[in-house]
Amino acid sequence: MSKPTFLAIVALLATVAHVATGFTPAPQYGQAAVVIHDTIFVCGGFRLINSQYVVMSNLYSLNVSQPWNSTNPPWVDLTDSTTNTAIPLSGFYTMWPSTDNESFYVWGGGNHLNQTLPQNGFAQYNVTKRTWSLPSTIANMPQQRRLLSASWTSSGVAYMWGGRGDRFSGNSLFISSF
Ligand SMILES: *[C@@H]1O[C@H](CO)[C@@H](O)[C@H](O)[C@H]1NC(C)=O
Ligand SMILES: *[C@@H]1O[C@H](CO)[C@@H](O)[C@H](O)[C@H]1NC(C)=O
Ligand SMILES: *[C@@H]1O[C@H](CO)[C@@H](O)[C@H](O)[C@H]1NC(C)=O
Ligand SMILES: *[C@@H]1O[C@H](CO)[C@@H](O)[C@H](O)[C@H]1NC(C)=O
Ligand SMILES: *[C@@H]1O[C@H](CO)[C@@H](O)[C@H](O)[C@H]1NC(C)=O
Repeated sequence: MSKPTFLAIVALLATVAHVATGFTPAPQYGQAAVVIHDTIFVCGGFRLINSQYVVMSNLYSLNVSQPWNSTNPPWVDLTDSTTNTAIPLSGFYTMWPSTDNESFYVWGGGNHLNQTLPQNGFAQYNVTKRTWSLPSTIANMPQQRRLLSASWTSSGVAYMWGGRGDRFSGNSLFISSF
């Protein structure tokens, strides 16, 4: 079974840096999302601040197993505001779950900071432990790119395709401001 994953949804952000519920995150751009069991995880992307797109590392979850009052959706802020370098600081990446549904992976993306991403944007989030880590290095890792898609199989293989390089990944013509 496979599912398309890249959902560049116009969504959500809060300034709260710790786990909190019952808030409505502010609008954001270029995020990715994945569903694991009954919970949607949304992370990364950009926020328009003083007319500039600023990259975000926010992570939110929404448990959709039960109905809720739309004035107070049960968002949980899982943003890790530590200096852990495994936390993705980018947007327009793709996202998929691990086969045991205990974590999700992100890959690719880009930002406005003129930096290549650690492991070309490859990172893992353990939803039980609530921690980010860098997966082991993989040989022949493709160059980082934005706006790609992924599908995955029940045996744990993820397929990624498409996307757009930036000047850190071989496309000198694409100089994004975010
Ligand atoms: C989602 O909510 C249901 C119902 O309250 C609960 O049983 C379940 O454990 C929640 N899921 C997570 C991942 O917390
Ligand atoms: C949803 O919340 C609003 C604001 O608190 C309240 O006025 C409304 O009655 C609630 N609706 C339901 C169906 O509970
Ligand atoms: C993980 O979630 C998928 C999609 O809901 C499900 O098909 C699969 O059986 C789950 N795997 C485990 C190990 O829970
Ligand atoms: C990134 O590079 C572009 C093009 O050289 C430049 O305009 C921009 O100011 C740089 N941004 C940062 C954050 O260094
Ligand atoms: C996630 O964390 C749990 C709890 O520590 C652990 O049992 C599990 O193996 C971890 N999953 C992955 C994929 O690392």
